[in-house]
Amino acid sequence: MSFLDVLLGRKHPPLVGLDISSSSVKLVELGQTASGEYVVERFATESFEKGWIADGQIEKFDEVAEAVRRVVVKSGTRTKHVAMAMPQSSVITKKIVLPAGLREEELEMQVESEANQYIPFSLDEVSLDFCVIGPSPTSAGDVEVLIAASRKDRVQDRQGLAEAAGLKPVVLDIESHASRLAVSRLIRALPNEGRDMLVALFEIGAETTSLKVLRDDELLYDRDQAFGGSQLTQLISRQYGFSFEEAEQKKLAGDLPEDYEQTILNPFVDSMAQEVGRALQYFFTSTPHHKVHYVMLAGGSAALPGLKERVTAQTGFASMIVNPFEGMKLGSSVRESKLRREAPSYLTACGLAMRRFLQ
Ligand SMILES: Nc1ncnc2c1ncn2[C@@H]1O[C@H](COP(=O)(O)OP(=O)(O)OP(=O)(O)O)[C@@H](O)[C@H]1O
Ligand SMILES: [Mg+2]
Repeated sequence: MSFLDVLLGRKHPPLVGLDISSSSVKLVELGQTASGEYVVERFATESFEKGWIADGQIEKFDEVAEAVRRVVVKSGTRTKHVAMAMPQSSVITKKIVLPAGLREEELEMQVESEANQYIPFSLDEVSLDFCVIGPSPTSAGDVEVLIAASRKDRVQDRQGLAEAAGLKPVVLDIESHASRLAVSRLIRALPNEGRDMLVALFEIGAETTSLKVLRDDELLYDRDQAFGGSQLTQLISRQYGFSFEEAEQKKLAGDLPEDYEQTILNPFVDSMAQEVGRALQYFFTSTPHHKVHYVMLAGGSAALPGLKERVTAQTGFASMIVNPFEGMKLGSSVRESKLRREAPSYLTACGLAMRRFLQ
């Protein structure tokens, strides 16, 4: 932050959150009122065609860059600085313990030598980053350091996308950290500020469903599964003979034949609720826990009609659909009904936008 920013009271220079995932790019810009409440200033999304991004890898760079450019224009933002994220599958993270009070260069050297031991690439192919988390809870006089490493070409791809759209990447986070940041705000809004509660967060996207179990700021469990809304699109495309893109469009618009609900949607929602139940069972069998206090459903497919009710029935736990903008004020250019409808898919983008106030 520059001296001028401080002088002019621009404590947090503008920054937008840009979430580039397998099905779309989503942009969120947050502001803050004088009393510290978040304000949703802008949000927008542009969808990708299937295959533009596969397994977190950008396969069609120009097409994706063009979509990023469109989402910026559509959102109306004038902010150039962006916070982006790497998919968790492209990042290796590890916590290590080092003596407290090391100088920056010593710390760097230690981190590099530690990293050498477990990163399966040569270090010059890798972007390495680290931060000191705090004192070690187990050994006095030591600090915990989080190391994150990703292949350089993956990082450069993401940065290149932003730059091709005329943006300047200033934060490169990890997707799952960003969604945790956004959800921790919602957990604090639960009774008793969510203290000591086990919260199962499902992010049900297009290709992937992930389950994180959180307690306070601790991540107890984290699993990804290849399952998501694009399976439903596939079924629609096969049943009615549409292309994937047509089927996706009709699915979102609700523009489908009369028998759709009975023959396709309901059975799919049932099987999705079963997958959710099964994923929780795996958590219970591999940990000492046997219940969660809340099941939170996020990701675009969380909004499937009837899913929340069926998850509650299947698991017996209270379920809710995540709205990362819950409790935020709305800027003048934000349409509330649209925001509410699309909110669950903006969890990661919202967490990235929150980084503006946490640097
Ligand atoms: N209102 C809705 N009703 C039903 N499905 C929806 C709705 N909105 C979005 N979806 C579906 O949600 C999926 C996209 O969700 P999301 O944006 O969270 O995925 P993603 O992050 O791109 O995917 P992934 O996490 O797998 O990379 C798509 O399959 C889309 O069809
Ligand atoms: Mg996602």
